[in-house]
Amino acid sequence: DSDFLTPTPPVGWNSWNAFEKDIDENKIKQIADIMVSSGMRDAGYKYLVLDDAWMAAERNENGQLVADSIKFPNGMKAVGDYIHSKGLKYGIYECRGDLTCQNLPGSFEHEEIDMQSFADWGVDYIKLDACFAKKNGRLSSEDFDVYHKAILKTGRPMVLSISDFGSGAWAWGGKNYGQLWRTSGDIFPRIQSVYRCAETSGGDGASHPAFNGLWQFAGPDSWNDPDMLQVGNLKSITEDKVHFSLWSILAAPIMAGNDLRKMSDEVKDIITAKEVLAINQDPRTHQGYRVYEKDSIEIYNKPLSDGTTAVLMLNKGEKVSDITVFWKQIGLAGKQPVRDLWLEKDLGEFSESFTAKSLEKHEHLLIKVGTIGSPLVAGPTPVSEDKYT
Ligand code: GLA
Repeated sequence: DSDFLTPTPPVGWNSWNAFEKDIDENKIKQIADIMVSSGMRDAGYKYLVLDDAWMAAERNENGQLVADSIKFPNGMKAVGDYIHSKGLKYGIYECRGDLTCQNLPGSFEHEEIDMQSFADWGVDYIKLDACFAKKNGRLSSEDFDVYHKAILKTGRPMVLSISDFGSGAWAWGGKNYGQLWRTSGDIFPRIQSVYRCAETSGGDGASHPAFNGLWQFAGPDSWNDPDMLQVGNLKSITEDKVHFSLWSILAAPIMAGNDLRKMSDEVKDIITAKEVLAINQDPRTHQGYRVYEKDSIEIYNKPLSDGTTAVLMLNKGEKVSDITVFWKQIGLAGKQPVRDLWLEKDLGEFSESFTAKSLEKHEHLLIKVGTIGSPLVAGPTPVSEDKYT
């Protein structure tokens, strides 16, 4: 449906994980250039998002936000013009508190004026945070309703990324206001942090009952967001790959967060891996979910639009392990073809199960099971709505 702002999970790059407050016009232009020259844009990386700390400490005499004049001497519209000239979309950060998380001017009581500034600057995507918002005396849902209306009033289509994990936007219907919502606290460049974030949106509730079954809230313009990528910032290629596979199978927003100017070819190959990204972007928009968890072994399944299903087998533990997925765990039976999505290679046909051999700590396999063109593999059964209210 072309009416959706983001019919599949948004894909792009965000400045926070790589640079935190240390952003400026030159850096952002370099990033835009590399998004094109590296092949990222053509692989599907559409948004270039400036996170916190682009703005001056004071608004202008009309109450409008202005760029930090040292970092962005030509103003924020010029940044957007450059991003657009590269065939990319322009994203920007603000906060529903009176201050941002970095103590800069927030949008509280400036909702309309700020959304209008963004529209005037050509912004396509707004990440809206929640620091200092308690003082507002409004619920998160009430606030996002205000922003949603302010955005509509500008007449410019802009994606709204609800960066407010404490509010549980999936449960109060965040999709009525924004197109994605954080499900976790901040991600850090450590594999355990990556796992903790993935758990919130992809867990089966065993360890975090409140997050059970978030997959059922995912779909066009409603994405569970376990935070931005640390691919390229982790300890090894093994860790970078499992991070990317998890975000892919969880239909998570893919916001790269590495310094593209220092990106190795190996990391570039990970974030642009065609068949892995295609799982994330599958038009059936089913979020993957965990079908097995025991002794640091996990198996996830994501039914796809072509009649096949993607399966991730992950060893989080210390012991080298074999992992077997049984077709009956993923709604299949009989003999099924298996394809390795990282190697982009068919592995043959397997009856009733498939075993990934000798996976070391943090190693995984991402495969596609089934024959293209077969009837759709059924997803899991939704749990009742009143669990969330
Ligand atoms: C919060 C958000 C982060 C980042 C920072 C910026 O912590 O969760 O993603 O935007 O604020 O200050």
